[in-house]
Amino acid sequence: MERTLVLVKPDGVQRGLIGEIVSRLERRGLKLAGMKLMRLDQPAARQHYGEHVDRPFFAGLVEFITSGPLVAMVWEADSAVEIVRNTIGATDPGNSAPGTIRGDLAVNIGRNLVHGSDGVESAQREINLFFRPEELLDYSRSNDPWIIEP
Ligand code: RTP
Ligand code: MG
Repeated sequence: MERTLVLVKPDGVQRGLIGEIVSRLERRGLKLAGMKLMRLDQPAARQHYGEHVDRPFFAGLVEFITSGPLVAMVWEADSAVEIVRNTIGATDPGNSAPGTIRGDLAVNIGRNLVHGSDGVESAQREINLFFRPEELLDYSRSNDPWIIEP
């Protein structure tokens, strides 16, 4: 089963949208494998967003993501990476479809509420950055056959 990292970024925590965002992922049928409230320090933030180090928005991005608590989660499903990215919506809320998290709840690219890993390899790298193996749980849900064809 594929796993992906999701962050409710500091703007989502400050705006009281943790429950709303978790609820959308739960209702989609994804399974929660791990979750914690934490604050990123500068080195961890620079590592998480390392691919963007040379971009003009990098400093602001690191400042923002370290500015307050965030919620880190690991969600599981077949094609979890793609399903989460589609549920979150396009990076710029100006282009995010209505019905997506960003399309319904955000208006600014620098305050787009959520992060979702953009590929299976980056998901693995990011999950290892945020969670120890024992913090991720393997379990079955009694309604799994109603969500996933056995
Ligand atoms: P994220 O990594 O946060 O899930 O977002 P993403 O994959 O949709 O977008 P990505 O290209 O990875 O960019 C990371 C974050 O940087 C900010 N950004 N600002 N001003 C800009 O042109 C710009 N481009 C990206 C966004 O906050 C984006 O979420
Ligand atoms: Mg990204």
